[in-house]
Amino acid sequence: MAKILVIHGPNLDLLGKREPQVYGKFTLAEVNKRLKDLAKKEKVELEFFQSNHEGEIVDAIGSAKKKKFVAILINPAAYTHTSVAIRDAIAAIELPAVEVHLSNIYAREEFRRTSLIAPVAKGQVCGFGIDSYLLGLQAAIKLVK
Ligand code: DQA
Repeated sequence: MAKILVIHGPNLDLLGKREPQVYGKFTLAEVNKRLKDLAKKEKVELEFFQSNHEGEIVDAIGSAKKKKFVAILINPAAYTHTSVAIRDAIAAIELPAVEVHLSNIYAREEFRRTSLIAPVAKGQVCGFGIDSYLLGLQAAIKLVK
């Protein structure tokens, strides 16, 4: 079965409690459960990884191919706007990556309107809350099936 790596960046472990007016009231466990349900229907396997540390995310991306993942679904969170290292890691591996965000990063503060990740991702889904993840997973599945 095709294996897709789901990466959640910094502070997403706080979902539910963190600025619920921006990110929603659901927890990260609930996001993962919804993704798992969709993955089951689509007959793909998911592995989840959350980290608040840039280097750990770089390592997870760098080892994804060796671990037989066929695609990456990533919400790089704040690192979206700052991390050349995560961008380079995605550019280096030959796996399609789909970037997702709960909020519409283009409708928020100026500093959020630039994604360093978008140019190396296959595409980006943002602004739909939990549905950004589900739409992003559907896109990733279509890319690998
Ligand atoms: C986010 C948007 C980022 O700007 C922010 O730093 C996050 C979450 C989102 O999902 O909307 O942590 O990636």
